[in-house]
Amino acid sequence: MTRAIQLKTPRQLRFMRQAGTIVAEVLALLGEHIVPGATTAALDALAEAEIKKRGAMPSFKGYHGYPCTICASVNEQIVHGIPGEYRLQEGDILSIDVGAIYKGWHGDAAVTYAVGRPSAEAERVMDVTQEALRRGIAAAVPDNHLGDIGFAIQSWVEAQGFAVVRDFVGHGIGKVMHEAPQVPNFGEAGAGVKMRPGMTIAIEPMVSVGDWRVKVLDDGWTAVTADGSLSAHYEHSIAITNNGPEILTKVA
Ligand code: MF3
Ligand code: CO
Repeated sequence: MTRAIQLKTPRQLRFMRQAGTIVAEVLALLGEHIVPGATTAALDALAEAEIKKRGAMPSFKGYHGYPCTICASVNEQIVHGIPGEYRLQEGDILSIDVGAIYKGWHGDAAVTYAVGRPSAEAERVMDVTQEALRRGIAAAVPDNHLGDIGFAIQSWVEAQGFAVVRDFVGHGIGKVMHEAPQVPNFGEAGAGVKMRPGMTIAIEPMVSVGDWRVKVLDDGWTAVTADGSLSAHYEHSIAITNNGPEILTKVA
């Protein structure tokens, strides 16, 4: 985490859009391969090939020793699940996080996909989390404060009877994947740093059906809900502009 908030120039934003588009394309493509019987390792290999094919590089691989291109977190796994030989099963939900670096600039985004037909509860936690991200993004406008994003997310999620994970937060993004500032998914309206045009941040609500507390598995990475309840995760990298929030991690 670099200390100062880096404001990006229009030229730098163009690179970040390109990085973001690559991430979004790869996430969309992975979505087409989420079927019962697929292994998360196969999705990881596909993501790596597709990122490289687009002239970019995976940004998670090697990050603090992380071994893979994507994070693949199933059901009660919240984030940082390590791809492996696990075979997706009908009714699972799978959170996939993808990061890529292109011409020195980062994109970072995540989606939760259902494998086949989700349970009502699974569908609901996905919908609530996706809407939480939408509300968080809507609050990312000049002169609002970072706390307005967290407040928008937390108040929505808790009103739906679910919990916001506290142990992981969103972040500034740019020439490094995790820059200042931290972007919590909880907080008070009007609190924290004031947003300015040119700030680029990743907003990434993680929502649990039960309690917000987490445990990390013995692999040192996989974060699960302590109570074993289902969890979803959606993330976009966005730019704060005078015309409102711009989603960078979208298919062009
Ligand atoms: N994508 C995560 C984030 O949104 C970071 C993944 S950690 C890694 O901040 F080690 F897998 F890279
Ligand atoms: Co992120």
